[in-house]
Amino acid sequence: MAGNRTFSMIKPDAVRDGHVGSILQLIEAGGFKIVAMKLTYLTAERAGEFYGVHKEKPFYESLKEVMSESPIVAFVLEKENAVEAYRTFIGSTNPANAAEGTIRKIYAKSLERNAVHGSDSDANAAIETSFFFSQQEIYG
Ligand code: CMP
Repeated sequence: MAGNRTFSMIKPDAVRDGHVGSILQLIEAGGFKIVAMKLTYLTAERAGEFYGVHKEKPFYESLKEVMSESPIVAFVLEKENAVEAYRTFIGSTNPANAAEGTIRKIYAKSLERNAVHGSDSDANAAIETSFFFSQQEIYG
């Protein structure tokens, strides 16, 4: 059975450009409930750990740099079938393929600077959530 929580980040570009409020407004209007949230900063080393599965990819070093340029907003969302619902909601990883009205279609600048991250499975949602939050920091 699919879980009801997912993990997300608003990436440095989108935070820097002042889109936090607008993005969170869209997410809440889309029926997702925020159950944990923090503005924080990833060093390049921590960004590399977070994206460890991409270690062998050609874009890994650049991704680490982009993700440590300035603060990010990390949060946990609740909704039925959250992982899949949120991935549909934010749109394709590459904004060129993202559907109209999705967060990435509206706010992403490029494949790399794609505004938001969303977990790709329930297992990764749990791992990524615990990367940023203790149990006490999550509501419910
Ligand atoms: P995200 O969903 O956070 O997961 C991995 C990130 O790597 C992805 O969003 C993009 O920011 C980035 N990414 C994925 N594929 C590429 C690529 N081909 N070139 C550059 N960056 C990429």
